[in-house]
Amino acid sequence: MKTLGIVGGGVIGLSCALRAAESGWQVTIHDPVRADAASAVAAGMLGIAGESRTGEDTYLAFAERAMARWPAFLERLADPGVIAARASVMAGVDSADVGELTMAADWLGERGHPVQSLTGKEIRELEPAVSTRVRRGFLAGREMAVDNRRLLAVLTDAVAEVGVRRVEGEIIDLDSLPDDQVLLTAGVASAKLWPGLPVYPSKGEVLRLGWARGALAPPKHVVRGLINGRAVYIVPRSDGVVVGATQYDGDADLQPVVGGVADLLADAIELMPSLREYRLLSADAGLRPLTPDGLPIIGRLDNRTWAATGHGRNGILMCAITADLVADMLAGYSIDEPAIDPGRFS
Ligand code: GLY
Repeated sequence: MKTLGIVGGGVIGLSCALRAAESGWQVTIHDPVRADAASAVAAGMLGIAGESRTGEDTYLAFAERAMARWPAFLERLADPGVIAARASVMAGVDSADVGELTMAADWLGERGHPVQSLTGKEIRELEPAVSTRVRRGFLAGREMAVDNRRLLAVLTDAVAEVGVRRVEGEIIDLDSLPDDQVLLTAGVASAKLWPGLPVYPSKGEVLRLGWARGALAPPKHVVRGLINGRAVYIVPRSDGVVVGATQYDGDADLQPVVGGVADLLADAIELMPSLREYRLLSADAGLRPLTPDGLPIIGRLDNRTWAATGHGRNGILMCAITADLVADMLAGYSIDEPAIDPGRFS
């Protein structure tokens, strides 16, 4: 049996390990257990509409293809409790916010994404906790969310069940690994292990708020707001919400800063005033692994080394398609996905 060493034990490494092991590889995950692991800090949105900027057709098309892999992936995970929301509500406050959302909805609708324009009143019928200051928005009908921490736990159990070994500790040099093939899934650490790989950190602060007795219940949908031009999202959990996120490109600092936390709280309360009564459980900062064009780098680096990294703001959405593509590549199939080819930047 051929061996595969995977460097990085986040959601991408785990998903790839599961598919590779099920395709006949003997897999070892080398996991440095990093505090900046993006997967655990994430909010868990499967961001198609919410993460594609208006006009970015290539990104949107890849995000849609990534979403199409999720039903089979969820069936494999066999834990419906992973699902946190089945659709997203996009909400705008001032007229510029509403204008931007209307443009986004038109663009998404023209490209086949199910969008439904909503008045403020219709938004509050779906989500009664949304502020009366919200004027308009739309429902993104295919934009789910999962509980990212539960997903990580389910994947961890699943890879153990199929015989994947897990070794903790930092890897300094890929040549030190004994495996026949090596897959780099190390997020922001990828560029250190493969110099020249264009992956850089983008710090994001995320808050976890717990429902408190007497407060309105957490929403059923992801609620994404544009509040006077600033984006905020509120993602349901069974016992509260996750609020995110700031974005500081190039910043690799792991301390949440007071200003970022204050802005998130202010925008989240503006969008959903009842959050004022929730408990502040945690404020974390994670490092998204960004690439220059926002799309991941998935493919061959040399005749022994492969990359599946640089998933930016959307590693959770893209984990299932990444695992499928990597399994196909390892099996020798050629992949017609130029948008994610590692050679596209050279
Ligand atoms: N996926 C949302 C974020 O990175 O903030």
